[in-house]
Amino acid sequence: MKIFTTRHQIAQYFTHKTGKTIGFVPTMGALHNGHISLIKRAQQACNEVVCSIFVNPTQFNDPKDLEKYPRPIAADIAMLEQAGCDILFNPPVSEIYDNNEKWHLNIGNLEHLLEGEFRPGHYQGVMQVVNKLFNIVKPDLAFFGQKDYQQFMVISKMVELLNMPVKLVMCPIQRETDGLAMSSRNVHLTAYDRQHALILSKALSGVKDSFGIADIPQLQLQAKQLINSEPGIGLEYFEIVDGDTLTPVSSNTKSIVALVAARAGKTRLIDNMLIV
Ligand code: PAJ
Repeated sequence: MKIFTTRHQIAQYFTHKTGKTIGFVPTMGALHNGHISLIKRAQQACNEVVCSIFVNPTQFNDPKDLEKYPRPIAADIAMLEQAGCDILFNPPVSEIYDNNEKWHLNIGNLEHLLEGEFRPGHYQGVMQVVNKLFNIVKPDLAFFGQKDYQQFMVISKMVELLNMPVKLVMCPIQRETDGLAMSSRNVHLTAYDRQHALILSKALSGVKDSFGIADIPQLQLQAKQLINSEPGIGLEYFEIVDGDTLTPVSSNTKSIVALVAARAGKTRLIDNMLIV
């Protein structure tokens, strides 16, 4: 695997590679099998796969969260080598940002719903960095996880608004055998937190299994009550919404998704499940 740390190295490398389909998997590192599943999916569709590892400061609304974000770069490189990834782009912050750069793209209320409500400014930071990474890597296809369902919608909106020449692919959520959605933040969970965190995927599965038996407000209430009664878990939101708009289900709804965010001890976790 080639490891590049500057924009220039990426540009130089790709001048000689015309005609190849480039697949891109942006990450913040602390890689797990969820990330690797995106690399594998990219390899099926592309000639050359680029993974980026960049802990993006502009998307963290809590400086402590940024500081304690795991950065096991040696283990990450070993995982990418093992997966047969072609290129790792691992720039320092100074390669991506000048001091105090401004960014804002109006994507309407999508930015303020759900995650946006609990993490103000988060999605502007995500768009800012993904825009820059797309401009540097110039991928034909870019692969993102359903794990961050709203993030996929936000990036799709940016690509549409800026007419960016990239196709986005959403890949399924990878889970541990007990149902916990894989996440870089899971390393922060104590054994106690981890055990109780299972209530999130259980509540999502419960909604899926009972869909059509009870109505949506009832299902939502039951899921919230289930999570609220779990020790050590602090629920932020549990919503069952239209999968295309993240707004309440209506007669025009084609798909339904349930999304949850909660703290397990000090660790913030998100998960979701397609219901219909
Ligand atoms: P990160 O949290 O490292 O996630 C990188 C990619 O891996 C995202 O597309 C995410 O949805 C996907 N992913 C994470 N856990 C997954 C799982 N259990 N199953 C499948 N895919 C999973 O998301 C980010 O980084 C950043 O916001 C980024 C897009 C890189 C911008 O900084």
